[in-house]
Amino acid sequence: MNLELIHKYPREKRFTLSILQDIQREYNYIPREYMEYIAEYLNQPLSDVYSIATFYKALSLKPKGKYTIKVCNGTACHIRGSESIREELLKVLNLEPGETTEDGLFSVEVVNCIGACALAPVILINDKYYGGMTKEKVKDLINSYREVAINA
Ligand code: FES
Repeated sequence: MNLELIHKYPREKRFTLSILQDIQREYNYIPREYMEYIAEYLNQPLSDVYSIATFYKALSLKPKGKYTIKVCNGTACHIRGSESIREELLKVLNLEPGETTEDGLFSVEVVNCIGACALAPVILINDKYYGGMTKEKVKDLINSYREVAINA
């Protein structure tokens, strides 16, 4: 465990979220042993730490892939065919929504409007938007990310 992530904060409950956010940034999820340690360090019940970790969508208790793919299913994207993009994506990656590929590279989430309706249908891979998506583009896009990951 990298305790420095926790010890740089004073032992006050109000820093729980900040600590969790730092751990999420570092590991892409919150390992259980960290939650236990935070509870001890801040002298609060584990259930309180757990409540915060599950309340905020940006925090995850399960390991996420190196690339988190958000498929928008908001109205504008839905009307323009996001359903078929989602199906193709899950087929290509052999996943269910919320799961991560075995190689740890990709996670897929289905979300509501991600604020880029003019680009609909749109998916977001980490911080990058891909607008005007089609079912046909999905495979090439995934392969391009795989290549980058393999050559990194
Ligand atoms: S509905 Fe998809 S970005 Fe708004």
